[in-house]
Amino acid sequence: METIATYENILTDIEEGVLTITLNRESKLNALTLKTLQEIRAAVVEAQADENIKGIILTGSGTKAFAAGADISEFAHFTEDQATRMSADGHDVMNTIENSEKPVIAAVNGFALGGGCELAMCCHMRIASENAKFGQPEVNLGVPPGYGGTQRMIQLVGKGKAVELLLTGDSIDAQTALQLGLVNHVVSLDELLPKCREILAKISTKSPVAVGKVIKCINDFFRPNVNGMQREIYEFGEAFITEDFKEGTDAFLNKRKPNFPGK
Ligand code: COA
Repeated sequence: METIATYENILTDIEEGVLTITLNRESKLNALTLKTLQEIRAAVVEAQADENIKGIILTGSGTKAFAAGADISEFAHFTEDQATRMSADGHDVMNTIENSEKPVIAAVNGFALGGGCELAMCCHMRIASENAKFGQPEVNLGVPPGYGGTQRMIQLVGKGKAVELLLTGDSIDAQTALQLGLVNHVVSLDELLPKCREILAKISTKSPVAVGKVIKCINDFFRPNVNGMQREIYEFGEAFITEDFKEGTDAFLNKRKPNFPGK
């Protein structure tokens, strides 16, 4: 087991090509401070350059919470300017995760509320344990979600259900989240990390170049003023000059398994 850096609010370890980032404030249900978010961002950025890392799991410590939201005690007395900066910086963190060219899976091991739900939603996939709960309760605090929740909830579950969840602040359980498409799978708590590892292990046998390009194309579907179809045409053409493409096609034509160099 390797560690890539030392952080205060998160734990990181690398095992079999997977970086696991664990939010480490169990006594506060892993509530997200500004510093915690910057640490997550730093770990994800660092992982992009580390060729030993093929995928990332984001999870919470303990068995009760993934993250019960942004840390309310930290922002309760913020000015308008501080709050605007908090939101903009939070968006930057969430966008960094969403734009990671290495797949990021949220292993949702309990409450994913407010900023915790937003953090899960910016990951490429969400796997939930049976005890997980999702919700955007910000309306109870007198604010709208500020880390992209109003937008990504619509993207994941559609406007109709998103409006209900965002306006009522209601929490939903893991099975309901599965029915809505908010999560990909629901498993027991014991199976949570193994399931995430299994998915990442499968993806790690694919071309890292192609995986990164698929993520870019998917993300462009949701970007205003960007044409995702044009992006796909560009990425498809550019793939042909990569070693991964040579390896993938050669392996197919010679009836062998590919061993992708990832460039
Ligand atoms: N910010 C700061 N602290 C938080 C927190 C948050 N978002 N969520 C939980 N905590 C802290 C609690 O204050 C408590 O700390 P304390 O032991 O020092 O008093 C600790 O975590 C445990 O939480 P507690 O409320 O006692 O657990 P519970 O099982 O009774 O309730 C929740 C769990 C998730 C229902 C409840 O903690 C909650 O509603 N949290 C806030 C959810 C929210 O509004 N998130 C959106 C924020 S933008």
